[in-house]
Amino acid sequence: MNKDVVILGIESSCDETAAGIVNGCGDMLANRLLTQVDEHKMYGGVVPEIAARAHLDTMDHLIEKAMQDAGLGFDNLSAVAATCGPGLVGGVMIGMMSGKAIAASQNIPFIGINHLEAHALTPRLTDDADFPFLLLLISGMNTQLLVVEGVGKYKCLGKTIDDAIGECFDKSGRLMDLGYPAGPFIQKYASLCPDPAAARELYPLPTPMKGRKELDFSFSGLKTAVRNHVQNAGESLNKEALCASLQQTMVDVVVERTSKAIKFFTKTYPAGKAFVISGGVAANQPIRGALLKLAEENKLDFYAPPLNLCGDNGVMIAWAGVERYHLNLLDSLDMPARPRWPLEDL
Ligand code: KG4
Repeated sequence: MNKDVVILGIESSCDETAAGIVNGCGDMLANRLLTQVDEHKMYGGVVPEIAARAHLDTMDHLIEKAMQDAGLGFDNLSAVAATCGPGLVGGVMIGMMSGKAIAASQNIPFIGINHLEAHALTPRLTDDADFPFLLLLISGMNTQLLVVEGVGKYKCLGKTIDDAIGECFDKSGRLMDLGYPAGPFIQKYASLCPDPAAARELYPLPTPMKGRKELDFSFSGLKTAVRNHVQNAGESLNKEALCASLQQTMVDVVVERTSKAIKFFTKTYPAGKAFVISGGVAANQPIRGALLKLAEENKLDFYAPPLNLCGDNGVMIAWAGVERYHLNLLDSLDMPARPRWPLEDL
């Protein structure tokens, strides 16, 4: 750990333009983020072309602001880290090329970050989580259970075979006309439901993969079931009740899959002491609460990043850069953007 190491992190893989600065001790010196939600809202999802243009319009200014927040010039940076994938390739190219340009102009190292690794390593910034730990990554584009054995060392235990959990929240919310991104709206509507048990009887939903031995997830059937309820209910749809039923089902699915993974993890990695959640859906309070309880029951430490570091952000990219910088895992300027980049490939 070295306070003199200072790394700029750039994120642009989806609909957030972000720049963060972190030093070698994990002090956050800047955390700037611009969300494009308004630009994509009318389409009910992220439009890649619009996302890329918005990143292009805002990236330079945002990096400048982050540098001002930290009170630093580019010549104070030790290295620049930028997301190189996975994600929407137009956006990834913009952040990656900005990072490479700064690195080249200052003659400092460039570090190409796997966006999923940045989510995975965030609990080491916020909570000093030691390797190995079990990670549940739940976001708008990903749903995976992984053992994080070290920087660049991941063992995937299971992942979604169709939609991501956040995608299911967002698509279900769209069917109910809730607003975008729908996850926070679903949590809010569900909290207004006076009788969650009755809601589940009114709008029963399947719990996909329940009881299956493998640790994969599936959410497309759940989304279809929500669509059927919306269509059958028509004008008389009780949104609070359907949101409550959906959120409870999500909690059940996540807890059932994760408890199986914990059994495997504690048996296979006796040195492992922690269970960690990350990604935008980790902001969901009932899901966080249920997973905290599950971790406690299994005598594992539970870490969930603060809400502002659950979703995409520049600080997590900078921190992944710090971890890699300390291990001398640097990249050359011809590193490509990778729309698909499974963690196991690291
Ligand atoms: O990690 P993230 O910022 O980026 C992507 O991978 O896209 O996650 C965004 C996702 C969206 O699907 C959003 O609806 C979901 O996280 N989300 C939530 C909540 N807050 C954000 N889902 C459920 N409950 C929430 N409170």
